[in-house]
Amino acid sequence: MNRRRFLKKSVAATTVIMGSGLMLSSCKKNLRSELMGIDRLSDKSDQMDHDVYKILYYASLAPSGHNSQPWFVKIISKTQWIVGADADRRLSQVDGSNREAMLSLGAFIENLVQAANAFGYAVETKVIAKDRFAADVVKINLLKSKVLEIPLQRILTRRTVKSHFQSKELRLSDVNDFFQSVDGHLFYFPTGTDHAKLMDKEAVDNYIIQSNNINAMEELAFWIRFKDDDAKKFRDGLTVDGMEITGLAGWYVRNFMDNKDVMTQSFSDKGIEKTKEQVKEGAGWLVITSDGNTVKDLIETGRRFQRMALTAREKMIGIHPMTQALEEKQGQKNITENHEASMIPQFMLRVGYLDKYPDPVSLRRPVEWFVRS
Ligand SMILES: Cc1cc2nc3c(=O)[nH]c(=O)nc-3n(C[C@H](O)[C@H](O)[C@H](O)COP(=O)(O)O)c2cc1C
Repeated sequence: MNRRRFLKKSVAATTVIMGSGLMLSSCKKNLRSELMGIDRLSDKSDQMDHDVYKILYYASLAPSGHNSQPWFVKIISKTQWIVGADADRRLSQVDGSNREAMLSLGAFIENLVQAANAFGYAVETKVIAKDRFAADVVKINLLKSKVLEIPLQRILTRRTVKSHFQSKELRLSDVNDFFQSVDGHLFYFPTGTDHAKLMDKEAVDNYIIQSNNINAMEELAFWIRFKDDDAKKFRDGLTVDGMEITGLAGWYVRNFMDNKDVMTQSFSDKGIEKTKEQVKEGAGWLVITSDGNTVKDLIETGRRFQRMALTAREKMIGIHPMTQALEEKQGQKNITENHEASMIPQFMLRVGYLDKYPDPVSLRRPVEWFVRS
Protein backbone atom coordinates (compact mmCIF):
# COMPACT_ATOMS: atom_id res chain seq x y z
CA MET A 1 0.00 0.00 0.00
CA ASN A 2 1.51 3.35 -0.94
CA ARG A 3 1.66 6.26 1.49
CA ARG A 4 -1.30 8.15 0.02
CA ARG A 5 -3.46 5.09 0.06
CA PHE A 6 -2.37 4.26 3.60
CA LEU A 7 -3.24 7.78 4.76
CA LYS A 8 -6.58 7.64 2.97
CA LYS A 9 -7.40 4.36 4.70
CA SER A 10 -6.19 5.56 8.11
CA VAL A 11 -8.34 8.67 7.86
CA ALA A 12 -11.21 6.43 6.90
CA ALA A 13 -10.65 4.17 9.88
CA THR A 14 -10.63 7.16 12.21
CA THR A 15 -13.76 8.51 10.66
CA VAL A 16 -15.43 5.11 11.07
CA ILE A 17 -14.91 5.49 14.80
CA MET A 18 -15.98 9.12 14.98
CA GLY A 19 -18.63 9.75 12.39
CA SER A 20 -21.50 7.41 13.10
CA GLY A 21 -24.26 9.96 12.34
CA LEU A 22 -23.03 10.52 8.82
CA MET A 23 -22.63 6.80 8.31
CA LEU A 24 -26.09 5.89 9.42
CA SER A 25 -27.60 8.32 6.97
CA SER A 26 -25.47 6.95 4.13
CA CYS A 27 -26.52 3.39 5.00
CA LYS A 28 -30.21 4.10 4.66
CA LYS A 29 -30.13 4.88 0.96
CA ASN A 30 -31.75 2.34 -1.32
CA LEU A 31 -30.55 2.88 -4.88
CA ARG A 32 -33.15 0.47 -6.20
CA SER A 33 -36.06 2.60 -5.04
CA GLU A 34 -34.23 5.71 -6.21
CA LEU A 35 -33.61 4.40 -9.73
CA MET A 36 -36.28 1.81 -10.49
CA GLY A 37 -39.97 1.41 -9.89
CA ILE A 38 -43.04 0.04 -11.59
CA ASP A 39 -44.77 3.38 -10.97
CA ARG A 40 -42.32 5.08 -13.33
CA LEU A 41 -43.11 2.79 -16.24
CA SER A 42 -45.94 4.93 -17.60
CA ASP A 43 -43.41 7.44 -19.01
CA LYS A 44 -42.09 4.73 -21.30
CA SER A 45 -45.29 3.86 -23.12
CA ASP A 46 -44.55 6.23 -25.99
CA GLN A 47 -41.28 4.45 -26.83
CA MET A 48 -42.49 0.87 -26.63
CA ASP A 49 -45.85 -0.76 -26.26
CA HIS A 50 -46.83 -0.38 -22.63
CA ASP A 51 -47.66 -4.06 -22.00
CA VAL A 52 -44.44 -5.21 -23.66
CA TYR A 53 -42.46 -2.84 -21.51
CA LYS A 54 -44.15 -3.85 -18.27
CA ILE A 55 -43.83 -7.57 -18.94
CA LEU A 56 -40.12 -7.22 -19.70
CA TYR A 57 -39.60 -5.04 -16.64
CA TYR A 58 -41.03 -7.78 -14.40
CA ALA A 59 -38.98 -10.40 -16.25
CA SER A 60 -35.80 -8.42 -15.57
CA LEU A 61 -36.31 -8.62 -11.81
CA ALA A 62 -35.17 -12.25 -12.03
CA PRO A 63 -32.10 -13.30 -10.04
CA SER A 64 -28.85 -14.12 -11.85
CA GLY A 65 -25.33 -15.19 -10.88
CA HIS A 66 -23.29 -12.05 -9.90
CA ASN A 67 -26.39 -10.11 -11.03
CA SER A 68 -24.89 -10.35 -14.52
CA GLN A 69 -28.38 -10.26 -16.09
CA PRO A 70 -27.29 -12.50 -18.97
CA TRP A 71 -30.39 -11.86 -21.09
CA PHE A 72 -31.35 -9.92 -24.18
CA VAL A 73 -34.73 -9.85 -25.90
CA LYS A 74 -35.35 -9.51 -29.64
CA ILE A 75 -38.77 -8.11 -30.40
CA ILE A 76 -39.89 -9.62 -33.69
CA SER A 77 -43.43 -8.33 -33.35
CA LYS A 78 -45.58 -7.16 -30.47
CA THR A 79 -46.40 -10.78 -29.64
CA GLN A 80 -43.30 -12.67 -30.84
CA TRP A 81 -40.01 -12.34 -29.03
CA ILE A 82 -36.77 -14.23 -28.65
CA VAL A 83 -35.03 -14.38 -25.30
CA GLY A 84 -31.30 -14.82 -25.76
CA ALA A 85 -28.06 -15.12 -23.79
CA ASP A 86 -25.73 -12.13 -24.08
CA ALA A 87 -22.22 -13.47 -24.74
CA ASP A 88 -20.70 -10.31 -23.21
CA ARG A 89 -22.31 -11.20 -19.88
CA ARG A 90 -20.92 -14.71 -19.55
CA LEU A 91 -19.23 -15.71 -16.31
CA SER A 92 -16.62 -17.73 -18.13
CA GLN A 93 -14.50 -18.42 -15.03
CA VAL A 94 -17.10 -19.70 -12.58
CA ASP A 95 -19.73 -20.77 -15.11
CA GLY A 96 -17.63 -22.05 -18.01
CA SER A 97 -20.41 -24.32 -19.25
CA ASN A 98 -23.07 -21.57 -19.19
CA ARG A 99 -25.17 -23.68 -16.85
CA GLU A 100 -25.98 -20.80 -14.50
CA ALA A 101 -26.66 -18.43 -17.40
CA MET A 102 -29.34 -20.87 -18.62
CA LEU A 103 -30.80 -21.15 -15.11
CA SER A 104 -30.94 -17.34 -14.86
CA LEU A 105 -32.65 -17.15 -18.25
CA GLY A 106 -35.16 -19.68 -16.92
CA ALA A 107 -35.91 -17.42 -13.94
CA PHE A 108 -36.33 -14.48 -16.36
CA ILE A 109 -38.82 -16.50 -18.42
CA GLU A 110 -40.82 -17.53 -15.36
CA ASN A 111 -41.24 -13.85 -14.38
CA LEU A 112 -42.09 -13.00 -17.99
CA VAL A 113 -44.80 -15.67 -18.17
CA GLN A 114 -46.34 -14.71 -14.83
CA ALA A 115 -46.42 -11.01 -15.75
CA ALA A 116 -47.86 -11.73 -19.21
CA ASN A 117 -50.57 -13.95 -17.65
CA ALA A 118 -51.44 -11.16 -15.23
CA PHE A 119 -51.77 -8.67 -18.11
CA GLY A 120 -54.07 -10.98 -20.10
CA TYR A 121 -51.75 -12.99 -22.33
CA ALA A 122 -51.21 -16.71 -22.53
CA VAL A 123 -47.58 -17.53 -23.35
CA GLU A 124 -46.12 -20.28 -25.52
CA THR A 125 -42.43 -20.90 -24.93
CA LYS A 126 -40.16 -23.01 -27.12
CA VAL A 127 -36.49 -23.68 -26.47
CA ILE A 128 -34.70 -23.12 -29.79
CA ALA A 129 -31.05 -23.15 -28.64
CA LYS A 130 -29.11 -26.17 -29.94
CA ASP A 131 -26.61 -25.86 -27.11
CA ARG A 132 -25.82 -23.69 -24.06
CA PHE A 133 -23.74 -21.25 -26.10
CA ALA A 134 -26.34 -20.40 -28.74
CA ALA A 135 -27.35 -16.73 -28.71
CA ASP A 136 -31.09 -17.24 -29.30
CA VAL A 137 -32.45 -19.47 -26.57
CA VAL A 138 -36.24 -19.35 -26.16
CA LYS A 139 -38.95 -18.26 -28.55
CA ILE A 140 -41.90 -16.53 -26.92
CA ASN A 141 -45.36 -16.24 -28.41
CA LEU A 142 -48.04 -14.18 -26.65
CA LEU A 143 -51.74 -14.83 -27.24
CA LYS A 144 -54.48 -12.52 -25.98
CA SER A 145 -56.28 -14.38 -23.22
CA LYS A 146 -58.09 -13.78 -19.97
CA VAL A 147 -56.40 -11.92 -17.15
CA LEU A 148 -55.14 -14.31 -14.48
CA GLU A 149 -54.94 -13.31 -10.85
CA ILE A 150 -51.23 -13.56 -10.27
CA PRO A 151 -49.67 -11.63 -7.38
CA LEU A 152 -46.97 -9.65 -9.19
CA GLN A 153 -46.09 -7.97 -5.92
CA ARG A 154 -44.07 -11.09 -5.14
CA ILE A 155 -41.86 -10.44 -8.17
CA LEU A 156 -41.32 -6.83 -7.10
CA THR A 157 -40.44 -7.69 -3.53
CA ARG A 158 -38.44 -10.94 -3.88
CA ARG A 159 -34.73 -10.75 -3.27
CA THR A 160 -31.79 -12.91 -2.31
CA VAL A 161 -31.47 -12.87 1.49
CA LYS A 162 -28.20 -13.90 3.12
CA SER A 163 -28.53 -13.18 6.83
CA HIS A 164 -30.80 -13.02 9.89
CA PHE A 165 -32.27 -16.46 9.22
CA GLN A 166 -34.07 -18.10 12.13
CA SER A 167 -32.74 -21.51 13.06
CA LYS A 168 -36.07 -23.35 13.28
CA GLU A 169 -36.70 -26.16 10.83
CA LEU A 170 -38.99 -25.62 7.84
CA ARG A 171 -42.57 -26.67 8.49
CA LEU A 172 -43.65 -29.73 6.57
CA SER A 173 -46.45 -27.76 4.89
CA ASP A 174 -43.90 -25.23 3.58
CA VAL A 175 -41.60 -27.96 2.33
CA ASN A 176 -44.59 -29.53 0.58
CA ASP A 177 -45.50 -26.23 -1.08
CA PHE A 178 -41.91 -25.82 -2.26
CA PHE A 179 -41.94 -29.41 -3.50
CA GLN A 180 -45.03 -28.66 -5.58
CA SER A 181 -43.61 -25.42 -6.99
CA VAL A 182 -40.59 -27.30 -8.40
CA ASP A 183 -42.63 -30.28 -9.64
CA GLY A 184 -41.01 -32.55 -7.07
CA HIS A 185 -37.37 -31.78 -8.00
CA LEU A 186 -36.38 -30.97 -4.43
CA PHE A 187 -34.50 -32.26 -1.40
CA TYR A 188 -34.58 -30.62 2.02
CA PHE A 189 -31.75 -31.22 4.50
CA PRO A 190 -32.55 -29.65 7.90
CA THR A 191 -29.77 -28.00 9.91
CA GLY A 192 -27.74 -30.42 11.99
CA THR A 193 -28.42 -33.49 9.84
CA ASP A 194 -25.35 -35.25 8.47
CA HIS A 195 -26.19 -34.16 4.99
CA ALA A 196 -26.67 -30.51 5.94
CA LYS A 197 -23.29 -30.63 7.70
CA LEU A 198 -21.70 -31.97 4.54
CA MET A 199 -23.24 -29.13 2.56
CA ASP A 200 -22.07 -26.55 5.13
CA LYS A 201 -18.55 -27.88 4.72
CA GLU A 202 -18.72 -27.96 0.92
CA ALA A 203 -20.08 -24.40 0.82
CA VAL A 204 -17.13 -23.13 2.88
CA ASP A 205 -14.41 -25.33 1.32
CA ASN A 206 -15.37 -24.41 -2.21
CA TYR A 207 -15.71 -20.75 -1.34
CA ILE A 208 -12.09 -20.96 -0.15
CA ILE A 209 -11.01 -22.76 -3.33
CA GLN A 210 -12.60 -20.01 -5.40
CA SER A 211 -11.05 -17.26 -3.28
CA ASN A 212 -7.65 -18.69 -4.20
CA ASN A 213 -8.47 -18.70 -7.90
CA ILE A 214 -7.17 -15.45 -9.28
CA ASN A 215 -9.24 -15.71 -12.46
CA ALA A 216 -12.48 -16.24 -10.54
CA MET A 217 -11.63 -13.30 -8.28
CA GLU A 218 -10.85 -11.06 -11.26
CA GLU A 219 -14.20 -11.99 -12.73
CA LEU A 220 -15.90 -11.21 -9.42
CA ALA A 221 -14.08 -7.86 -9.25
CA PHE A 222 -15.38 -7.04 -12.72
CA TRP A 223 -18.99 -7.42 -11.49
CA ILE A 224 -18.57 -5.58 -8.20
CA ARG A 225 -20.01 -2.08 -7.97
CA PHE A 226 -18.61 -0.57 -4.77
CA LYS A 227 -19.32 2.98 -5.86
CA ASP A 228 -22.86 4.25 -6.26
CA ASP A 229 -21.82 6.02 -9.47
CA ASP A 230 -20.75 2.70 -11.01
CA ALA A 231 -23.93 1.03 -9.85
CA LYS A 232 -25.98 3.80 -11.46
CA LYS A 233 -23.93 3.67 -14.63
CA PHE A 234 -24.11 -0.09 -15.19
CA ARG A 235 -27.26 -1.04 -13.27
CA ASP A 236 -26.01 -4.61 -12.82
CA GLY A 237 -23.46 -6.50 -10.74
CA LEU A 238 -23.03 -6.73 -7.00
CA THR A 239 -23.51 -3.58 -4.97
CA VAL A 240 -22.50 -3.09 -1.35
CA ASP A 241 -26.14 -3.41 -0.30
CA GLY A 242 -26.65 -6.50 -2.47
CA MET A 243 -23.66 -8.17 -0.80
CA GLU A 244 -25.21 -7.24 2.57
CA ILE A 245 -22.13 -5.34 3.69
CA THR A 246 -23.96 -3.14 6.14
CA GLY A 247 -23.34 -0.50 8.81
CA LEU A 248 -19.85 0.86 9.26
CA ALA A 249 -18.29 -1.77 7.03
CA GLY A 250 -20.67 -0.82 4.22
CA TRP A 251 -19.87 2.85 4.58
CA TYR A 252 -16.15 2.12 4.55
CA VAL A 253 -16.32 -0.14 1.51
CA ARG A 254 -18.48 2.30 -0.45
CA ASN A 255 -16.21 5.23 0.21
CA PHE A 256 -12.72 3.79 0.41
CA MET A 257 -12.48 0.55 -1.53
CA ASP A 258 -12.20 -0.03 -5.23
CA ASN A 259 -12.36 -3.09 -7.45
CA LYS A 260 -8.63 -3.82 -7.07
CA ASP A 261 -9.24 -4.46 -3.37
CA VAL A 262 -11.31 -7.54 -4.31
CA MET A 263 -7.98 -9.18 -5.18
CA THR A 264 -6.50 -8.67 -1.70
CA GLN A 265 -6.10 -11.36 0.94
CA SER A 266 -8.10 -9.32 3.43
CA PHE A 267 -11.14 -9.18 1.11
CA SER A 268 -10.96 -12.97 0.63
CA ASP A 269 -10.55 -13.54 4.37
CA LYS A 270 -13.63 -11.44 5.15
CA GLY A 271 -15.62 -13.35 2.55
CA ILE A 272 -14.53 -16.68 4.03
CA GLU A 273 -15.43 -15.54 7.56
CA LYS A 274 -18.82 -14.36 6.35
CA THR A 275 -19.48 -17.65 4.57
CA LYS A 276 -18.61 -19.59 7.74
CA GLU A 277 -21.08 -17.43 9.68
CA GLN A 278 -23.76 -17.79 7.04
CA VAL A 279 -23.77 -21.59 6.99
CA LYS A 280 -24.33 -21.61 10.76
CA GLU A 281 -27.67 -19.80 10.33
CA GLY A 282 -30.99 -20.99 9.05
CA ALA A 283 -33.23 -24.00 8.59
CA GLY A 284 -30.81 -25.96 6.43
CA TRP A 285 -30.40 -26.59 2.73
CA LEU A 286 -32.69 -27.05 -0.23
CA VAL A 287 -31.32 -28.70 -3.34
CA ILE A 288 -33.17 -28.30 -6.64
CA THR A 289 -32.42 -31.07 -9.10
CA SER A 290 -33.07 -31.53 -12.80
CA ASP A 291 -33.89 -34.49 -15.03
CA GLY A 292 -30.98 -33.78 -17.36
CA ASN A 293 -28.51 -31.18 -18.48
CA THR A 294 -29.94 -29.99 -21.79
CA VAL A 295 -30.79 -26.33 -22.36
CA LYS A 296 -34.45 -27.28 -21.98
CA ASP A 297 -33.76 -28.96 -18.62
CA LEU A 298 -31.87 -25.91 -17.35
CA ILE A 299 -34.46 -23.39 -18.51
CA GLU A 300 -37.15 -25.49 -16.82
CA THR A 301 -35.07 -25.70 -13.64
CA GLY A 302 -34.52 -21.93 -13.60
CA ARG A 303 -38.28 -21.48 -13.95
CA ARG A 304 -38.90 -23.89 -11.07
CA PHE A 305 -36.34 -22.14 -8.90
CA GLN A 306 -38.02 -18.80 -9.49
CA ARG A 307 -41.48 -20.24 -8.72
CA MET A 308 -40.10 -21.54 -5.46
CA ALA A 309 -38.39 -18.22 -4.67
CA LEU A 310 -41.69 -16.39 -5.19
CA THR A 311 -43.49 -18.89 -2.94
CA ALA A 312 -40.76 -18.35 -0.35
CA ARG A 313 -41.29 -14.58 -0.55
CA GLU A 314 -44.95 -15.07 0.38
CA LYS A 315 -43.96 -17.26 3.31
CA MET A 316 -41.27 -14.86 4.66
CA ILE A 317 -38.62 -17.45 3.95
CA GLY A 318 -35.22 -16.23 2.80
CA ILE A 319 -33.33 -18.06 0.07
CA HIS A 320 -29.59 -17.79 -0.46
CA PRO A 321 -28.04 -19.62 -3.42
CA MET A 322 -24.50 -20.69 -2.51
CA THR A 323 -23.18 -21.93 -5.78
CA GLN A 324 -19.41 -22.32 -5.39
CA ALA A 325 -19.68 -26.03 -4.56
CA LEU A 326 -21.50 -26.65 -7.84
CA GLU A 327 -18.94 -24.58 -9.75
CA GLU A 328 -15.80 -26.31 -8.52
CA LYS A 329 -14.81 -29.85 -9.57
CA GLN A 330 -14.20 -30.98 -5.99
CA GLY A 331 -17.55 -29.64 -4.79
CA GLN A 332 -19.48 -31.14 -7.70
CA LYS A 333 -17.92 -34.52 -6.98
CA ASN A 334 -18.56 -34.45 -3.23
CA ILE A 335 -22.10 -33.14 -3.52
CA THR A 336 -23.09 -35.57 -6.27
CA GLU A 337 -21.43 -38.63 -4.69
CA ASN A 338 -23.30 -38.03 -1.47
CA HIS A 339 -26.67 -38.09 -3.14
CA GLU A 340 -28.55 -40.76 -5.01
CA ALA A 341 -26.59 -41.73 -8.09
CA SER A 342 -29.17 -40.39 -10.51
CA MET A 343 -29.56 -36.99 -8.89
CA ILE A 344 -28.40 -33.88 -10.78
CA PRO A 345 -28.12 -30.94 -8.33
CA GLN A 346 -28.60 -27.53 -9.98
CA PHE A 347 -29.17 -25.20 -7.03
CA MET A 348 -27.77 -25.32 -3.49
CA LEU A 349 -29.91 -22.98 -1.41
CA ARG A 350 -29.60 -22.03 2.22
CA VAL A 351 -33.02 -21.23 3.63
CA GLY A 352 -34.61 -19.85 6.75
CA TYR A 353 -37.59 -18.04 8.17
CA LEU A 354 -37.18 -14.30 8.56
CA ASP A 355 -38.65 -11.91 11.12
CA LYS A 356 -38.61 -9.20 8.51
CA TYR A 357 -38.15 -9.69 4.78
CA PRO A 358 -35.75 -6.94 3.66
CA ASP A 359 -36.46 -4.64 0.70
CA PRO A 360 -34.84 -5.56 -2.60
CA VAL A 361 -31.67 -3.58 -3.30
CA SER A 362 -30.01 -5.10 -6.37
CA LEU A 363 -30.28 -3.04 -9.55
CA ARG A 364 -31.49 -3.95 -13.03
CA ARG A 365 -30.75 -2.53 -16.44
CA PRO A 366 -33.70 -0.62 -17.86
CA VAL A 367 -35.70 -2.57 -20.44
CA GLU A 368 -34.39 -0.44 -23.36
CA TRP A 369 -30.86 -1.57 -22.53
CA PHE A 370 -31.53 -5.27 -23.14
CA VAL A 371 -34.07 -5.08 -25.97
CA ARG A 372 -32.76 -5.51 -29.50
CA SER A 373 -35.04 -4.92 -32.45
C1 LIG B 1 -27.74 -19.30 -10.91
C2 LIG B 1 -27.56 -18.38 -9.73
C3 LIG B 1 -26.46 -18.54 -8.90
C4 LIG B 1 -26.28 -17.71 -7.79
N1 LIG B 1 -25.21 -17.92 -6.96
C5 LIG B 1 -25.06 -17.14 -5.85
C6 LIG B 1 -24.00 -17.39 -4.92
O1 LIG B 1 -23.20 -18.30 -5.08
N2 LIG B 1 -23.89 -16.58 -3.84
C7 LIG B 1 -24.77 -15.54 -3.61
O2 LIG B 1 -24.63 -14.84 -2.62
N3 LIG B 1 -25.79 -15.29 -4.48
C8 LIG B 1 -25.96 -16.07 -5.58
N4 LIG B 1 -26.99 -15.84 -6.44
C9 LIG B 1 -27.89 -14.69 -6.18
C10 LIG B 1 -27.52 -13.49 -7.06
O3 LIG B 1 -26.31 -12.90 -6.62
C11 LIG B 1 -28.67 -12.48 -7.04
O4 LIG B 1 -29.78 -13.08 -7.64
C12 LIG B 1 -28.37 -11.20 -7.77
O5 LIG B 1 -27.34 -10.50 -7.15
C13 LIG B 1 -29.59 -10.30 -7.84
O6 LIG B 1 -30.09 -10.03 -6.56
P1 LIG B 1 -31.56 -10.39 -6.10
O7 LIG B 1 -31.72 -11.87 -6.17
O8 LIG B 1 -31.65 -9.87 -4.70
O9 LIG B 1 -32.52 -9.71 -7.05
C14 LIG B 1 -27.21 -16.66 -7.54
C15 LIG B 1 -28.32 -16.51 -8.38
C16 LIG B 1 -28.50 -17.37 -9.46
C17 LIG B 1 -29.72 -17.20 -10.34
